[in-house]
Amino acid sequence: MKKLMVSSFIGTLLMLPVFTVNAADADHGKRLHDGKCSGCHGTRMYTRPNRKIHNLQELQARVEFCNNAAKAGFSPQDQADVIHYLNRDFYKFPDIQ
Ligand code: HEC
Repeated sequence: MKKLMVSSFIGTLLMLPVFTVNAADADHGKRLHDGKCSGCHGTRMYTRPNRKIHNLQELQARVEFCNNAAKAGFSPQDQADVIHYLNRDFYKFPDIQ
């Protein structure tokens, strides 16, 4: 029994970082965004009446495009975090976890 508890404890320790890396983190996305994405436009761009982004696919494509334009160097995980931040605070598309 004790052995079982120890191994499941170690299992939890091993799984924790994996979960943290994979789960999109909107607060981390905000920090990345505010650090690297404010050179050309502010957040008003995301709520302008004629905004160009109408669904999650377009948002993903735009973040990738602007990541290159900004030379931000965001990893795919960073981009996922930024997308979650933008969606949480501005776009509010329903089809994102
Ligand atoms: C080199 C300048 C530049 C930088 C830096 C930049 N963007 Fe952009 N971004 C633009 C331009 C220009 C547009 C508007 C494109 C249009 O109107 O067709 C835009 C539009 C957008 C939109 C769509 C707004 C809408 O209409 O709903 C999003 C989302 C976006 N940017 C995200 C980002 C993110 C995330 C970053 C940081 C990685 C970033 N941008 C950094 C130039 C930039």
